[in-house]
Amino acid sequence: MILSTGYQSGFGNEFATEAVPGTLPIGRNSPQRVAHGLYAEQLSGTAFTAPRHANHRSWLYRIRPAAMHGTFEPYVPASGPSFHNDFGDGPVTPDQLRWNPLPMPTSPVDFVDGLFTMAGNGSPAAQNGVAIHLYAANRDMQGRYFYDADGELLIVPQQGRLHIATELGVLEVEPQQIAAIPRGVRFAVSLPDGGARGYVCENFGAMLRLPDLGPIGSNGLANPRDFLTPNAAFEDVEGEFELIGKFQGHLWRADIGHSPLDVVGWHGNYAPYLYDLRRFNTIGSISYDHPDPSIFLVLHSPSDTPGTSNMDFVIFPPRWLVAQDTFRPPWFHRNIASEFMGLVHGAYDAKAEGFSPGGASLHNSMTGHGPDSATFEKASAADLARPDVIGDTMAFMFETRAVIRPTRQALEAAHRQREYQACWAGLKKHYAAPKG
Ligand SMILES: [Fe+2]
Repeated sequence: MILSTGYQSGFGNEFATEAVPGTLPIGRNSPQRVAHGLYAEQLSGTAFTAPRHANHRSWLYRIRPAAMHGTFEPYVPASGPSFHNDFGDGPVTPDQLRWNPLPMPTSPVDFVDGLFTMAGNGSPAAQNGVAIHLYAANRDMQGRYFYDADGELLIVPQQGRLHIATELGVLEVEPQQIAAIPRGVRFAVSLPDGGARGYVCENFGAMLRLPDLGPIGSNGLANPRDFLTPNAAFEDVEGEFELIGKFQGHLWRADIGHSPLDVVGWHGNYAPYLYDLRRFNTIGSISYDHPDPSIFLVLHSPSDTPGTSNMDFVIFPPRWLVAQDTFRPPWFHRNIASEFMGLVHGAYDAKAEGFSPGGASLHNSMTGHGPDSATFEKASAADLARPDVIGDTMAFMFETRAVIRPTRQALEAAHRQREYQACWAGLKKHYAAPKG
C-alpha cells in the first residue's frame, strides 16, 4: 500500500510535486530524456483548446507509460453486473422513491465490485448526465487497479474510511469528507476500517467546479483553500495484476504486469482532491423564509445552458435556524430539476424518520415532496422566539437538469421502501372556509 505523502492546498491550482527530487523537467514538459529514466505522459481532461479558465491537463513522469497493458476483455464481477449505466429508455415512475442503506456484503467484495448503480441520466457517449451509485465493500482492491473513462467520480463516504491510492498520490478520506477522481485517473481503494459504504456520482459532463458567489462576495460556501490535492507518491512493483476500466457503460479487464501507480512526479491542474464538508461556510436566512437550496452548493458541473447545471452537489450541514414569522424547515415544493438525496450522518431536518444514514431518496422533476407530516406539525407549532440549531447532520443532494432514471435493480431492490409515500398521508386538512 502506498502511504500518503501529504497534500497541496487549493482548488484547481497549477500544482507541481515530485516524490523523488529532480524528477520534474524545468522549462519544458517533454525533454528528450526525462530524469531518472522516466517516461513523460500528458493526461488531458478537457479539450486542448478549452478556454484557459476551464482547461485541465497534467504532465506525468512515470516508470512506464499508461499504454502498457494486455488486451481488454469484458469483465463481470463474481457477484454479477451491478455497476453499469443501464438506465433504460422506457417509462419512468413519477413516484417519490426511497431506499434503506445498501446491505454490507456477506462475501469478500472490493470497492469496484461493491458498486451498485441506482439511477442516472444522459450518457458517457454524449458526455452529459450522471450515474448515481452506492457502494458497500469489505475488502481492499488487491492487485487490481481501476479507472473510469466515462466520467469524473465524486465519492461521498458514509461509513468507513477510504485509502485511495491514485496515479497522482494518495487521498485518505473519511465520512463527512468527499473525494473527486478525474476521468481516466487510475486508482486502488483500501479500507482501513475493514468495511466501507457510501455514494458515488459518476459525472459524464463538464468537470466539477466551484460556483460563482455573486452577492455573497469573495468568501463563503466551500472555500478554495480547503480543497486538498495529494503530493506525488508511487510504487515500483511488478507482478500479475489486473487493470479494470469502465468505458461506455461497461467494465473491461486487462492483465498488467506492473502497478500503474508509478508516477514519480507530476505537474498540472488535472488531479484528484478531497474536501471536508465540515469546513463548508453555511449561509442562510436571518430574516424570513428558507432560501432556495442553491445556497448550499458545494460543487457543480455546468451544462451548456448558463445557470442550469448538469449536476449540482449540495449539502445540508449543521446550521442555525433563526428566521422569524416563517416555516423554518424546507418547504413543500416541485422543481424542474431532479433530486437524488443521501444522508452521511445524523438526521435530516425535513423527515422525522425513515431516512437513515446510508439511505437514499429520489424526487424527480415536478414530483411533489417536502417535510413529512410529523415535521410539518412540529415546525408549524415551533416557538420562533428562540433560535434552533441543527447540530448533528450531514445530508446531501445530487441535483440534475435531466430526469434521474432509476435502474431496474434499484426499483426491485430488497432495500427499497415501498411505503415511502405514506410519510405524507398523515398531513391533516386544516382549511376552514371563512364564515359568512
Ligand atoms: Fe427537494
